[in-house]
Amino acid sequence: MSGPLQRSFARLFADVDTTMFVVTARGPDGEQAGCLIGFATQASVDPPRFLACISRKNHTYKVACQTDTLVVHFVDEDAGDLAELFGGETGDAIDKFARVAWRHGPENVPVLERLQTWFAGRVLERIRLGDHDGFLLEPVVVSARRDAQPLRFHRARRIAPGHAP
Ligand SMILES: Cc1cc2nc3c(=O)[nH]c(=O)nc-3n(C[C@H](O)[C@H](O)[C@H](O)COP(=O)(O)O)c2cc1C
Repeated sequence: MSGPLQRSFARLFADVDTTMFVVTARGPDGEQAGCLIGFATQASVDPPRFLACISRKNHTYKVACQTDTLVVHFVDEDAGDLAELFGGETGDAIDKFARVAWRHGPENVPVLERLQTWFAGRVLERIRLGDHDGFLLEPVVVSARRDAQPLRFHRARRIAPGHAP
């Protein structure tokens, strides 16, 4: 795609105020990873499916490719600091999990204590989409304790991504 077309395409989405998520993963060797994502959507109702898109450059991608369970957290509006950590830093350089409260969740995948609305999904398929891969998830555990507003793209966009897309 040419530069101008690519830019006008990106501008189409500048006002789409999507909900932000943090996806976490744990590899077979115990390595943990997580990153902030906005490219994510419910993709089917029956059966229930969710598509989480992760850049192949991210540390989280490398770990997510080694497991068949991911946890997808809804980020609350007052959890901007978690969005900064998971979106603005890379697990290639720091251990994000040394800086937050977390516990072992389903299949030992880390669950962030402060984000109480999340689901664990079994990876059914990994789809090459472009510079991101789509992880098609089947929910297997759901934790729904939502009483907060979600953190949206318009607040998160000022964070400089830890990894260029
Ligand atoms: C507003 C915003 C939206 C983002 N959306 C995505 C996304 O949909 N998919 C993705 O892979 N990375 C996305 N990122 C970038 C990663 O969160 C970021 O590069 C992170 O530092 C990667 O961490 P990791 O290398 O530890 O996996 C987004 C970042 C921001 C600030």
